[in-house]
Amino acid sequence: MTTYNDELSQYITAQFAAEDEVLQQVREAIPLRGLPAINIKPEEGHFLQFLARANGAIKALEIGTLGGYSGIWIARGLVAGGRLITLEMEPAHAAVAREHFDAAGVSGQVEVMEGDAHELLPMLSGEAPFDFVFIDAEKSGYGAYFDWALENTRVGGIIAAHNAFQSGHIVGESSDESADLMRVFNQRVAEEPRVLSTIYPGGDGMVIAVKR
Ligand SMILES: C[S@@+](CC[C@H](N)C(=O)[O-])C[C@H]1O[C@@H](n2cnc3c(N)ncnc32)[C@H](O)[C@@H]1O
Repeated sequence: MTTYNDELSQYITAQFAAEDEVLQQVREAIPLRGLPAINIKPEEGHFLQFLARANGAIKALEIGTLGGYSGIWIARGLVAGGRLITLEMEPAHAAVAREHFDAAGVSGQVEVMEGDAHELLPMLSGEAPFDFVFIDAEKSGYGAYFDWALENTRVGGIIAAHNAFQSGHIVGESSDESADLMRVFNQRVAEEPRVLSTIYPGGDGMVIAVKR
């Protein structure tokens, strides 16, 4: 039996999800600029771009910008005239991300909002409905972020949430706190009747939900 593994992940990346020079530079710059290297992988970024494009997304929201790596992938998936709002609580991360959006030529489409997403999201309800929401911030907030996304995404819109696997700790007996939080989150999404959902198994796993 074939099992999804790093070698197959690398195969997908090489065949379908190769970075261009800008994305590679941005990914490599993140730790060099003193930010944690906790961005998504190229394979996951390409998948987000694919989802945004397949969905015809015009209005997208990201929770957790870091250095803008995932934001560039998403922005490039939006249809012409599309816009991404990305939320980041660390001003230093937001500053690096703005530079990277500039370098990628997407700063006209991307707005970085600084602050705690829990405080920013209620203000963004006025911009709803969104076509696409990507959640990639602190795990304890995922439930609240998903609830907000469910209310503020159009029917047919997509909600994606990163780290569904928690480096594999999601299965087995691990007592890792983040894994416990993700188990609860994954179950909550799986049981939510207002969405059709699954986990994309690339990278660290991505919960994906389409609003019914
Ligand atoms: C995993 S990183 C995001 C990675 C990014 N999506 C990528 O793949 O390139 C998580 C980011 O969320 C930010 N963050 C954490 N909690 C937050 C909150 N409550 N509101 C806004 N941003 C938050 C962190 O500062 C960090 O930059």
